Amino acid sequence: MLSSHVSRAVALTGAAGVVVGVVAGLQQRHTDEFQAAALGEFSRPSYNPPPATYDGPVFKPRLDFPSCANPRNEAFPWLGIDFKAEPERYLRTVQDYCLEGNVECDFKVEQNRTRDWYHVPWMSSHPKGREPIHGMTMEKPSKQGMLSDSQRREVQNWAVAFYNSPGAYAVGRVWSLPWQPTQDGVAFPEGTVAFKWFFTQATEEEVPFLKGAPVWKAAIAKTPREPGDRGPPVDTRLIQMDVAIRDDRADIGWVFGTFVYHSSQSSDAPWRRLVPVCLQWGNDPDLTQQRYQEGARPVQTWNNPRLRDLGILAASRPYLGWLGRANGPVDNFKSCCASCHSTASVPDKDNKIPRGVPPNADQALRWFRNLRPGQAFEKGGTSLDYSLQLSSCTTQYNNWKKSYLQNTLLGTLKEWWLEVHPFPTTAPPSGKND
Ligand code: HEC
Repeated sequence: MLSSHVSRAVALTGAAGVVVGVVAGLQQRHTDEFQAAALGEFSRPSYNPPPATYDGPVFKPRLDFPSCANPRNEAFPWLGIDFKAEPERYLRTVQDYCLEGNVECDFKVEQNRTRDWYHVPWMSSHPKGREPIHGMTMEKPSKQGMLSDSQRREVQNWAVAFYNSPGAYAVGRVWSLPWQPTQDGVAFPEGTVAFKWFFTQATEEEVPFLKGAPVWKAAIAKTPREPGDRGPPVDTRLIQMDVAIRDDRADIGWVFGTFVYHSSQSSDAPWRRLVPVCLQWGNDPDLTQQRYQEGARPVQTWNNPRLRDLGILAASRPYLGWLGRANGPVDNFKSCCASCHSTASVPDKDNKIPRGVPPNADQALRWFRNLRPGQAFEKGGTSLDYSLQLSSCTTQYNNWKKSYLQNTLLGTLKEWWLEVHPFPTTAPPSGKND
């Protein structure tokens, strides 16, 4: 009696041990598989593969982030320029820094011999994710008349962004494990520069100031309504360059600036035919619609006074950014650079464009606060320090992870059942033919 109890207990303990061992083994295997899959998605170059008809160079993200903020002990010459007194000189200095060594390699930054530039990972999972030739992601399309008076159809805009070493150091700290981001305490060091090129589907006929602009082939969407349905390569033209600079002297710790390609610029080098459009160091928290109507204008944005003359500000737009704040022609005029970027946080909510602009303008002022780096937009949120690529890649990571786990959960349960089930699932051999 006793011995049969004991032997049963021993058998059960043995079986439990086997089950625990099998489960642990499977868990390890699933963790390994998850990490390998995440690594693949982290560095996936594009949403759609290069089209069969295209045999030129393709986009390769640079993701080998530096392990310290300023590995080459670079100087940042714009930090010695007073951006309020000399906005154009500040912008030109940053522009030169961004173009140096990059024009020669057509912005395949991994080939830049002057300095290091990097991309942000996880930008290819979403249907608006990177196209395969230049790594551009889909931006807001421009409705008829938004870019120029002669633009008679809606056109797509696509963009790609780069961070210098200090910026890439901060990005790399978030993604030191490609399968598990660290989002606490994101802080870009002073000296960080990010820049972003916008290419538009609009032609020179539609937007005359684009004449002679650099052209990039890009395998973009067939229509703006279906971002994931990609077509053969088409010509896209340089229209806008955005820069974001971490600078302690700004009320928000960042200076935002934008340039527009303009055929009237005399430079022989097409990439340099850029007009500085605006520079912003704060959100002008007190500028309400009422005050604007009474004649008040932003005091934390510098706007190039020639925008209407140059045709950069189309007749159908009252201003580039809300009430004259900074923005580019491809951006939404109900927002501005600093406002939209101040929402960068986790959880990433669909809250980038101010709500209540108009009719309830006071409610909209929440979007025009001067938040310091590290201060989250929403109560209880975690700041991503004005980096919207960091919030975009976090969202893509979260969505990817959710669907990966959902897809593998059923498979995993079945495997576990088959491997740990104590009974054979098929009938035992009858012995007849043994
Ligand atoms: C309505 C929202 C919105 C406005 C307005 C806006 N941006 Fe952005 N910006 C984004 C989003 C979203 C991203 C990240 C996704 C991407 O690059 O596709 C981004 C990315 C960038 C980047 C790359 C680094 C980063 O922070 O992710 C720079 C630089 C940038 N924007 C500069 C500007 C400047 C300068 C302006 C004003 C001229 C501006 N932005 C206006 C939404 C906005």
